[in-house]
Amino acid sequence: MMKDDLPIIVKDDPNLLAQAAAVLFTDAAIEKVTVNNLFTVAISGGATPRAMYHLLTEEPFISRVPWDRTHFFWVDERLVPWNHPYSNYGSAEEYFIGKIPIPKSNVHPMPVDFSPETASKKYQDSLTTFFDLEKGKFPRLDLIILGMGKDGHTASLFPGQRALDERQQLVISVKGGNPFVDRLTMTFPVLNNAMEILLLVSGEDKADTLKAVLEDKQNALPAQRVRPTHGTLKWLMDRKAASGLSTH
Ligand code: 6PG
Repeated sequence: MMKDDLPIIVKDDPNLLAQAAAVLFTDAAIEKVTVNNLFTVAISGGATPRAMYHLLTEEPFISRVPWDRTHFFWVDERLVPWNHPYSNYGSAEEYFIGKIPIPKSNVHPMPVDFSPETASKKYQDSLTTFFDLEKGKFPRLDLIILGMGKDGHTASLFPGQRALDERQQLVISVKGGNPFVDRLTMTFPVLNNAMEILLLVSGEDKADTLKAVLEDKQNALPAQRVRPTHGTLKWLMDRKAASGLSTH
């Protein structure tokens, strides 16, 4: 089903949503490794992708994904120690990364033991080195997994913040969201430079926001600015999240 030019995939429940996301992840990984011998993916925190991450730690997925050629980056992070319950990396490590056969050197968490400015610069430098970027260029990740908050935020790009308009930096620090803490986030030029973006949305409490994001014409909400410049975007949602949409 397409809405304007946006591919929207609606699954009956959160389990089927996770299943579909795990299949898309696995297919992307196999395809990229076949072609480039490398699969680069940036993942988000939040609750929605957790079920997908869990499926990837089990058969049939765990044996199919070429983990040794997969590199993980983070879309955003809360500036708390990795063992803190708010940590996106910590939670991914506990439920996902720590349960798959991946070399440690393929895992690139955002640094948290620095000031917000230094930490964002360090992650930007890591991306620049890994992707061998010239000055002013943005990395082209194979896959970016995003979620959306009830306020329409995505990554740690919150409504009304200056960060939404960042055009030069790859990673910036912001304060906001729930929990209201210092965070690092990839910027829109990085997100929108991806080959493929998967935006996962689950639950009735997101239905109104999703309707506004997909059906209102103004670009006021951060999630409306997810528009890959030369890649693809898939909105993957469950029936409850889609319940406000006029054609679903
Ligand atoms: C974060 C997330 C954030 C998340 C949305 C949706 O670290 O806060 O990356 O952008 O994806 O808030 O979160 P839920 O999936 O929990 O609704």
